[in-house]
Amino acid sequence: MAAAAPAPRRRTPRWTECPLAEVRRYLEPGPVVLVGSAWKGRADLMAMGWHTVMEFTPSLLGCVISRANHSHGLVRRSRECTINIPEAHWVDAVVGVGNCSGAEVDKFERFGFTAEPAREVGAPLVGECFVQIECRVVDTRLVNRYDFFVLEAVRARVDRSVRRPQTLHYRGGGEFMLSGPHIGRRALFAPGML
Ligand SMILES: Cc1cc2nc3c(=O)[nH]c(=O)nc-3n(C[C@H](O)[C@H](O)[C@H](O)COP(=O)(O)O)c2cc1C
Repeated sequence: MAAAAPAPRRRTPRWTECPLAEVRRYLEPGPVVLVGSAWKGRADLMAMGWHTVMEFTPSLLGCVISRANHSHGLVRRSRECTINIPEAHWVDAVVGVGNCSGAEVDKFERFGFTAEPAREVGAPLVGECFVQIECRVVDTRLVNRYDFFVLEAVRARVDRSVRRPQTLHYRGGGEFMLSGPHIGRRALFAPGML
């Protein structure tokens, strides 16, 4: 398997607020994300590949957070979380986060991620991630049956110092794809489909 790109030197981030209807531009390609959560002073982090855009406005996202995960209880009780997109060079730390439980370890400390305060929710943002989305749980009807949470993005920001982000896409079995070249077909789209 091709190695992920080496970690660049730590840049000075240039944060820009992201219009909520544009959150889909980052999540629609299906990158592996890190979910930040917190409840009663305990924060956690988990890796997630099973998420989907559900609507642009309001900006709705769906995701599966297994009840076997410590994060499940934190998100369920607080009704909040953050969705953070890491670049591909974080792959080893992302795998680490996805292979232990926040009930036993402080994953921020162990894997070198920085918990930063969010503006609209109590869950932590992940400082190293170039997209940070603050979410509230707006529908829990599918949680009991499928561990499926419906979230609304209530604030998002993007680090514009990251020019051509390469993201991780999980294939199962310990294998990832990395995002590749971009191609544009805007001219072929009906205006209402863009
Ligand atoms: C790449 C990757 C993707 C994952 N995607 C999901 C997912 O979508 N939903 C889920 O419930 N668990 C997923 N997991 C598993 C959790 O991240 C893992 O169980 C984690 O250790 C849970 O942490 P917690 O117990 O602290 O919440 C994934 C793991 C990896 C490595």
